[in-house]
Amino acid sequence: MKNKSMQQLLAEAQKGGYAVGAFNIHTMEVAQAIIAAAEAERAPVILQINQGTIQYAGIEYITAIAKTAQSLASVPVIVHLDHGTSYEMMAACIRHGFDSIMIDASKLPLAENIALVRKVVELAHPAGVAVEAELGKVGGVEDDIVVSEEEAGLTDPDEAVQFVQETGVDSLAVAIGTAHGVYKGVPRLDFERLEEIRKRVPIPLVLHGASGVPDEAVREAVARGICKVNISTELKQPFAATLRKTAVENLDEIDPRKLLGPTKEAMSEVVRAKIRLCGCAGKA
Ligand code: 13P
Repeated sequence: MKNKSMQQLLAEAQKGGYAVGAFNIHTMEVAQAIIAAAEAERAPVILQINQGTIQYAGIEYITAIAKTAQSLASVPVIVHLDHGTSYEMMAACIRHGFDSIMIDASKLPLAENIALVRKVVELAHPAGVAVEAELGKVGGVEDDIVVSEEEAGLTDPDEAVQFVQETGVDSLAVAIGTAHGVYKGVPRLDFERLEEIRKRVPIPLVLHGASGVPDEAVREAVARGICKVNISTELKQPFAATLRKTAVENLDEIDPRKLLGPTKEAMSEVVRAKIRLCGCAGKA
């Protein structure tokens, strides 16, 4: 099928009042599980690869898996870099055919964050690649990126307006109270802040750290303007649980396919539920 660009997918989501699910892939099994779920739900989907996975698998291997998934899928699929931190990483991903890249310069002071993001936009746009950036600091652990509770900070709406105008970025990851990884308590999202940003910033907004956020809160975030919902931890959990169970129940099993195969179904179920939660089912 003819694929769509990230900008098109997120513009449609913004207009339609739903969000596209963005799921982190680490291996072939994870990519296949996500695509199977998206096809079953007739939903567009975003396959995200982070720097840790690029280091683990090698950029050629993991990109080939994602691009193969994309070319075989019967629904629109975007291959996206999640949380790249350097200009060199951006250039490498563009060279390897990513459709979209996230430059995470959120640890830098505002002016430096703006300068780096603008430079990345200038590199990516002529190549037809979309750019996501983050303002404010989403807490928690995303592989090699660790943001402590003290460091985490919510997105300032005034800064968001300036940031979007001065960078020309395509979508904005906002910090509104979510965190990467497993939550200790129940996360409390700042919906008033989200609404304020939504009113003043015209581009699609992205929710990071959506694993473990109660369904009601995700629904409300989408209703108030989130167009892309990032999920990683909630796929790792069924992967690990199913792999452990299969291994323990079949102690003589040595075939990687028999050990890994059942994890796909477990991950697919979660992806299907998240796609429905985001209102994205049937939007392919
Ligand atoms: P979780 O692991 O908390 O789902 O976060 C995923 C994410 O935001 C990736 O950028």
